[in-house]
Amino acid sequence: MAGTVGLGIIGCGQIAPAHIRNSQDDPRVRWVAACDVRPEAVEQRADEFGIPHRYTAVEDLLADPEVDAVIVATGPEAHVGPAVAAFEAGRHVLVEKPVAVNAGQVEAMMAAQREGLVGACCSARFRSTPGARAATELIASGELGPVRRLSADVLLPPPANYDGTSPFFLHRPGWGGQGILADWGCYDLDFLLGIAGWAHDPELVLAAMGGVPARYRAIAEPVNDVEVGVAAQARMTGGAALDYRRATFAAVDAQRGAWRIECEHGALDLDLMPGSPQAVVHRYAADGVHSETLVDEPYEWPIIHRGPVIDFVEAILEGRAPMTGLRHALVLQRLTDAMYESARTGTAVVCGG
Ligand SMILES: NC(=O)c1ccc[n+]([C@@H]2O[C@H](COP(=O)([O-])OP(=O)(O)OC[C@H]3O[C@@H](n4cnc5c(N)ncnc54)[C@H](O)[C@@H]3O)[C@@H](O)[C@H]2O)c1
Repeated sequence: MAGTVGLGIIGCGQIAPAHIRNSQDDPRVRWVAACDVRPEAVEQRADEFGIPHRYTAVEDLLADPEVDAVIVATGPEAHVGPAVAAFEAGRHVLVEKPVAVNAGQVEAMMAAQREGLVGACCSARFRSTPGARAATELIASGELGPVRRLSADVLLPPPANYDGTSPFFLHRPGWGGQGILADWGCYDLDFLLGIAGWAHDPELVLAAMGGVPARYRAIAEPVNDVEVGVAAQARMTGGAALDYRRATFAAVDAQRGAWRIECEHGALDLDLMPGSPQAVVHRYAADGVHSETLVDEPYEWPIIHRGPVIDFVEAILEGRAPMTGLRHALVLQRLTDAMYESARTGTAVVCGG
């Protein structure tokens, strides 16, 4: 049907309902197919949302002429296979975050992406909010001048009444050997680099990581040997610096986080989470620094789940690039890969090309 997009979801696990529920009221969206290797998962999701076509093999979903585009919502280690197959079958693809487990997998997706097909990633999720959009427009206007420093510093306490079952990357086998950096770093880094207009690629990266604190390890074991804390710095193209810290199991009594973009003529303080204010701008002036709230009100969670799906559908219908295309996702993945390599080798890692 003209002006609409027939969507199929590949992977009917935990996140699938967030995609369907928060986009199904848009007249341009037609949820036509669902696929999961677990038949009971397909039936459950398809019944829940009245999705007519049900499959247990990706190739069968891709043979369905009503499917124009797919959302790949399998685990990160299983994104590349369905994404490549979908591009080869001439479908547009929105991939869940993190886009992949290494840059080579993103390059494989890009190699399969035919001319005219949209390839997007859900790491853009937290840039769907009014605060992030206002910040993006302000940076793009040039009023604050060139970006000098991108930073995020986020600390989460251990899960309350910790019983050794979460976060999932500690306990789910086959996750891919990656922890908090893969799971949340893609959001933080997409947020900062995307708001800054994707004008900064990593040149040199230095990172260190740590595992679960001993007190909690005693409860949790056996656990996947992945990082729960990361500290990283990077020199970026265009003369910008990246200063990044995120940890879970941190010794804090409540979550705290700060996301900031410093520029030649001022700075932005941002909240990726639904706090208030969402975005504050600080401008150098003759008598000091003037601060102004750009967006005050917190957002509601559905906005961040709806955002990437509607952006994907609009990108298809309008023939434009999505918020985070695969080219951008590759930058994020290279940066992440370099952080893992630096932490493993204890040396700074040169990024390029
Ligand atoms: N759970 C969340 O809160 C959440 C939030 C945001 C993003 N995500 C992202 O969404 C993705 C999925 O996460 P989830 O929590 O829904 O995982 P999940 O394990 O609950 O669901 C994944 C589903 O994919 C199916 N699957 C695996 N390989 C398949 C294949 N080749 N073909 C068809 N189906 C296949 C599995 O059977 C499973 O039902 C991940 O990339 C994750 O990072 C999850």
